[in-house]
Amino acid sequence: MRILGIESSCDETAAAVVEDGVSILSSVVASQLTTHARYGGVVPELASREHLRAIVPVVRMALAEANSNYSDLSAIAATVGPGLVGSLLVGLTFAKSLCFARGIPLIGVNHIEGHIHAAILDAQVEYPAIALVVSGGHTHLFQVNPGFSYKLMGKTRDDAAGEAFDKVGKLLGFGYPGGPVIDQLAPHGNPRAVKFTLAKMKGNALDFSFSGLKTAVLRWTEARNLDAEIQARKQLLAANAKPTVDEWLAVTPKATLDLLASFQRTVIEELLRRAAAAAESIEARALIVSGGVACNSGLRAAAAEMNLLYPVYFPSKSLSTDNAAMIAAAAFPKLKRGEFTELNATAAANLTLAEYN
Ligand code: KG4
Ligand code: ZN
Repeated sequence: MRILGIESSCDETAAAVVEDGVSILSSVVASQLTTHARYGGVVPELASREHLRAIVPVVRMALAEANSNYSDLSAIAATVGPGLVGSLLVGLTFAKSLCFARGIPLIGVNHIEGHIHAAILDAQVEYPAIALVVSGGHTHLFQVNPGFSYKLMGKTRDDAAGEAFDKVGKLLGFGYPGGPVIDQLAPHGNPRAVKFTLAKMKGNALDFSFSGLKTAVLRWTEARNLDAEIQARKQLLAANAKPTVDEWLAVTPKATLDLLASFQRTVIEELLRRAAAAAESIEARALIVSGGVACNSGLRAAAAEMNLLYPVYFPSKSLSTDNAAMIAAAAFPKLKRGEFTELNATAAANLTLAEYN
């Protein structure tokens, strides 16, 4: 059974064909990074416009690469939320039109559920599991039960982990998105050089907070005169949209590398400490880590070094960031259960996957 997945919740227009929820026949992602990079973040109006431009060729390419026609599809799955409403509407409306014209069932998918499925495609995961979803917009811990029902266990009270990477990257002149650059440079610094003291939080011990850490980085920066090096990095970026690690290293002194390494270590510790505590509290049989920040090499290495008693599943790096294969994969259990979405469904910018209970 083939499902065409369509994803357009943020700044990637993506389409994919996935067979039986496990084999990816095609996965096409048109990134808008270059459009948004010069603004230091995603500009919603530009994102919608770019999705409109990309959606038809991206879907065509995904079908062609999968050697599939509309008649081969058992369903079309589209992200209904959460995300930027203008962006979501492009993918969802296109999916609805295709379903209407071709008489194919529609399956609306929650973007966060998509991220979770990216990590478990063909893996034999045992449940209950804990899913740590860490991206530019989300930092959530969920209990995942057999049959894919979810319970929220913790979430960020302010910034998402990826947002913290992006804000630190922007502050220090590394452009947008900050996560991949910090990931590459962190191994060149001392992760124990800068000690951040994080405020103790009241309430749910599994909730996250990254705004204090972001402010601590800001204070560290303000206490030093970094104008010249930040300027040098901005110039490098203006001349070359994708500098190499060596080019970044040439304009980044040791103290700043130490700061990046210490920042990344702190984020990783915060994430994994709570994920492990959540897993322990429900005697989880697996830990699933997904979302853009799951690309982070330091996070992957730290999770492996913890020698947890249960397996840890990360998606491949290309499936960690936004893509449509994860949307098609998440739709497969719904297809099997006959859970279809009405064609008058609408996008929901603040859609949640599960609440505390
Ligand atoms: O899942 P995603 O593509 O989009 C959202 O749903 O938000 O995640 C994008 C986020 C950005 O904040 C980006 O900086 C972060 O993931 N990211 C990383 C890495 N690669 C992407 N963060 C840390 N290390 C990375 N290697
Ligand atoms: Zn995402």
